[in-house]
Amino acid sequence: MSVHASPQPGGAGRPVTIADLQAYADAGEKFAMLTAYDFTSAAILDEAGIPVILVGDSLGMVVLGHDSTVPVTMDEMIHHTRAVRRGARRALVVGDLPFGSYQASLEEGLVNGMRVLKEAGANAVKLEGHHPELTRRLVAAGVPVMGHLGLTPQSVNQLGGYKVQGRGEEAADRLVAQARELEAAGAFSLVLESVPSDVGRRVAEVLRIPVIGIGAGPDTDGQVLVFHDFLGMTGGHLPRFVKQYANLRGEIVAAAKAYSAEVASGDYPGPEHQY
Ligand code: KIV
Repeated sequence: MSVHASPQPGGAGRPVTIADLQAYADAGEKFAMLTAYDFTSAAILDEAGIPVILVGDSLGMVVLGHDSTVPVTMDEMIHHTRAVRRGARRALVVGDLPFGSYQASLEEGLVNGMRVLKEAGANAVKLEGHHPELTRRLVAAGVPVMGHLGLTPQSVNQLGGYKVQGRGEEAADRLVAQARELEAAGAFSLVLESVPSDVGRRVAEVLRIPVIGIGAGPDTDGQVLVFHDFLGMTGGHLPRFVKQYANLRGEIVAAAKAYSAEVASGDYPGPEHQY
């Protein structure tokens, strides 16, 4: 078998690559990324044609119930990324490197980056913050890197909360400079979170690689939202940038109440549900 063979060569179902994302950006075609954390959700997003699925460390909050992403471990990321990989046949799967998995040394970051590809089956890793040297080393080792600047939730304790970043000329200039360095280090794309729209536009204009915004305005090459947020499953306060495309929380509550009432009344199971 040729090493270039793909499961569905040339067809509409051909797996998405990092080169495809660059081609979308070069052609000015905006694209959507969504997070997923399990097999079924990933399969549904794949069926919908979402080209990039991020197994974000937001996992820690929306799936595991922590109040930040800080406690998420490598083993948890590997476990969930594997499940997503099994569901996503076509989408490019990107796995987050969690807090504590890359800060201690370049070597540890390299080893953990390779684990996300080798053990979990992801196509790329996402790395929060300004880490050009680690980005260079990962890319040299064959691990595609998606950068992440602006609000970096793993640094919530340092930032003093989930605040908009890049406000003011100096902060905006610093952010643009860091984005350029990550691109020069070989990052294939960049997530830009919670920055003023004009900063989102500036970064997207100066970088050639695709910039994927979340609360970074309309001018980035792509947008990303968290699965539970865009489907209206998350309870409590939501950031301003979230648009809910469904109200699944309301639908699930209503369905659970209807089921419970039918069990109580004896209407479920009906004759058609019996052997
Ligand atoms: O962890 C995550 O889900 C993310 C996205 C919000 C970009 O980093």
